Amino acid sequence: MKVSVIGLGYLGTTHSTAMAKLGHQVIGIESDHSRLALLQSGKVHFHEPGLQEELQRQLASGRLVFQSGHNEASKDCDIHFICVGTPQGSNGEADTSYVVSAAKELAKNLRPKSVVVGKSTVPVGTAKELKNLMSDIAGFEVHLAWNPEFLREGTALEDSLKPDRIVVGAWDNYSVEKVNEVYKPILATGTPFLSLDVETAELVKVAANAFLATKISFINAMAEVAEAAGADAVALAEAIGHDERIGKKFLRSGIGFGGGCLPKDIRGFIARAEEIGAGTALEFLKDIDQINLRRRDRVVELARKELGNVSGKKILVLGISFKPDSDDLRDSPSLEIARKLAGLGASVTVHDPVALPALKDKSGLTVESDLVKAAKDAELVILGTEWKEYRELDPSKLDVKGKIVIDGRNALDVDKWQKAGWKVIALGRNIKN
Ligand SMILES: NC(=O)c1ccc[n+]([C@@H]2O[C@H](COP(=O)([O-])OP(=O)(O)OC[C@H]3O[C@@H](n4cnc5c(N)ncnc54)[C@H](O)[C@@H]3O)[C@@H](O)[C@H]2O)c1
Repeated sequence: MKVSVIGLGYLGTTHSTAMAKLGHQVIGIESDHSRLALLQSGKVHFHEPGLQEELQRQLASGRLVFQSGHNEASKDCDIHFICVGTPQGSNGEADTSYVVSAAKELAKNLRPKSVVVGKSTVPVGTAKELKNLMSDIAGFEVHLAWNPEFLREGTALEDSLKPDRIVVGAWDNYSVEKVNEVYKPILATGTPFLSLDVETAELVKVAANAFLATKISFINAMAEVAEAAGADAVALAEAIGHDERIGKKFLRSGIGFGGGCLPKDIRGFIARAEEIGAGTALEFLKDIDQINLRRRDRVVELARKELGNVSGKKILVLGISFKPDSDDLRDSPSLEIARKLAGLGASVTVHDPVALPALKDKSGLTVESDLVKAAKDAELVILGTEWKEYRELDPSKLDVKGKIVIDGRNALDVDKWQKAGWKVIALGRNIKN
């Protein structure tokens, strides 16, 4: 099929590459000229394992091209995927202005037989507004479907090619059939295809993220209790996780969730629920958000407990991306902790295996890509992102002034660090040192 993908960020770059790999003829459309130029030269503007190599293969195959706007070739597409951003607005709501302007532009360049498929995460009700808006501009009833995306940064390409389900919401069968057709090679492997009403399809994504955020904040709330009670939240998670109704995934206590999706999606969900008169139902998500943010303050509190006045003290933060295998710094818990400590006058050095070039605002932070140099004379080390390289680190290699580590992710081998003479402090645990 001929496919266009509008907006080439984390989602659109991955989706366009995946669509080409499935054998479709793909036109990726990106309005940011520097991003576009990079993509055209075969470079991905963010870190995502395996993506750049696959993108280069697809460019070389001729099935994938990138351009800045619509032209005759893009007008000819069977399906147009909208993948532009929906960042957090000033009152927590999702800012849908990029989706609206991408839809307006597309409506001017649309053929009646083409199907528009939204993949961006939007407030429930957005698709209906877009369908009306686009139909008015196009002068015919636009085929529109919503197909939320569940890829995870770090495993984005794999998740796109082998999703655990494909969800589509549409008003007409023609749109559902086209979406089914575009995913045919994936569906042939037995992936469930869920055809829902549009509002439910829109809700699936934010509901899933609200559930995941709740699971993380649940164990972090238990961590707060465990810290006060002298108990161990890691052992607690293991014990409750054996119950298959609960499960072990997303039950690792630590400094909580961040990134470009979970935090803004739960806030946007709360805002939309309030708009449609269902705010009470999502009151609890405000607590989920607060529990999450409190964990960042807890690390600052622990640092002050260990060092007294942190002013002038050298602190090393290991990892600034919001999760390993990504260089996404959006709402990164570890970066916020680093900035909070720097705000208190600490001399904070940050290290990360890949995300340092993505750090544009370096104010108050020292950036060091050599781990041994970064650690030199540190009085405290904080593990903020559980990169493999930190999990496997030999602590005796670090020439520090104070052998104290705060494990913000419960990812370090406590025995190993203690044997190397370190005091290990971990969130939700009362480790005897
Ligand atoms: N990042 C993820 O892991 C992920 C996962 C699932 C869903 N989502 C959702 O997907 C959407 C996109 O997320 P992202 O992280 O890729 O955002 P992003 O900000 O990284 O990328 C959006 C891209 O769209 C471009 N763009 C904006 N308006 C445009 C237009 N009119 N024409 C062409 N290009 C335009 C921007 O320049 C940018 O490159 C969001 O709604 C997000 O919530 C993201």
